[in-house]
Amino acid sequence: MFKSVVARQAAKAVSQSSASTARPALNTFFRSLSSTASRANNDNEKVKKDPFLSATTKAPDDTLETEGRFARTDERVKIEYPDDSHMPRSPIVQGRGGMHFKRTLAQFSLENRVTLVTGGARGLGLAMAQGIVASGSDLAIVDLNKEEAQEQAQGLVEQFRKENPGLEPDQLPSVTAHYADVSNPQSVSAAIEEVIAKHGQIDHLVTSAGFAENFDAISYPYDRIKKLWGVNVDGTYLFATGVAKHLMERNASGSMVMIGSMSGAIVNIPQPQSPYNASKAAIRQLAASLAVEWACYDIRVNCISPGYMLTALTRKILDENPELRDKWISLIPTGKMGTPEDLMGAVTFLLSDASRYVTGTDLRVDGGYTLT
Ligand SMILES: NC(=O)c1ccc[n+]([C@@H]2O[C@H](COP(=O)([O-])OP(=O)(O)OC[C@H]3O[C@@H](n4cnc5c(N)ncnc54)[C@H](O)[C@@H]3O)[C@@H](O)[C@H]2O)c1
Repeated sequence: MFKSVVARQAAKAVSQSSASTARPALNTFFRSLSSTASRANNDNEKVKKDPFLSATTKAPDDTLETEGRFARTDERVKIEYPDDSHMPRSPIVQGRGGMHFKRTLAQFSLENRVTLVTGGARGLGLAMAQGIVASGSDLAIVDLNKEEAQEQAQGLVEQFRKENPGLEPDQLPSVTAHYADVSNPQSVSAAIEEVIAKHGQIDHLVTSAGFAENFDAISYPYDRIKKLWGVNVDGTYLFATGVAKHLMERNASGSMVMIGSMSGAIVNIPQPQSPYNASKAAIRQLAASLAVEWACYDIRVNCISPGYMLTALTRKILDENPELRDKWISLIPTGKMGTPEDLMGAVTFLLSDASRYVTGTDLRVDGGYTLT
């Protein structure tokens, strides 16, 4: 069977290559290699006078108007991220969930499932965790900041109770908080064991622990790059493999969502952040690669790439930097930043059976940023 597929492909390749040689020559339409656009410092007079050949994003500001003039990083832009003790807390979303009076597909339900969310104490992770609980799942929040995770876990159950009055205590979701440094393999294994001990199983994983930093590439301290990649990339890999191993041992199906970023597909401006962008490109490709590797185990792996989202942290940064806010918003086709709640539906879809034939994909939730 394998041989016949190979033979068919070989025959197809041969017939395609003979078909292409049979086509009329189109050489007149090809530019010869030597006509490739020249570099800015080309001193050929003819090239200098030609606005197309001499155009470059390095064009001096006072001469040629090019879009590239504005599409650059600016190493003077330095976003100051507060240290952990000054990080703003994220509110639990009020009044957007509630009892379901509108019919919806049962496939979207996460009832009788257990979901582990890394970085779930704050920001996007917390909002997605709330969407997951509202969709019926039990939840384990795993975070470096266990105290905040614990308070948010109680807050999520309380909010669920308010939105679903009349439930008996045993009908409330079980939401627990656990410590882990996602970049540390021992810490990750211990957290996964602890979650299994509390909940009996893990069916879904969302990896939201991660952070961004701004340094120009030349002066980025190497130990900080290693830390960034350790949390954003290794942390995602360690949790994904740990949870996949557990699912395989149980012979159970499952699904995971890795939180990448639009920065994995485009280069943000004006703030320089090359290692962060590279880490998010890695997440997208990791999700695709693991999706293929684990498809035979019925474990789906997808990626969500958010655009600029208005978390407590980004709101604080942008309130302090209104020019940066205006610049960012001017680049988003929908003309506004996303809110963490905008990810609730996306993550529920990708975890649930509603997406059971979707794996290895990257769902961009970015207001169209990456389209332009
Ligand atoms: N906010 C945005 O605009 C935006 C856009 C695109 C992608 N993202 C991505 O979304 C994810 C969440 O971002 P956010 O804005 O919610 O950030 P956030 O800082 O609000 O929340 C991140 C959470 O991760 C936890 N965390 C950090 N390092 C950890 C570690 N080593 N181990 C365990 N937990 C750790 C923090 O304690 C915090 O609770 C990140 O991966 C980020 O890159 C954010």
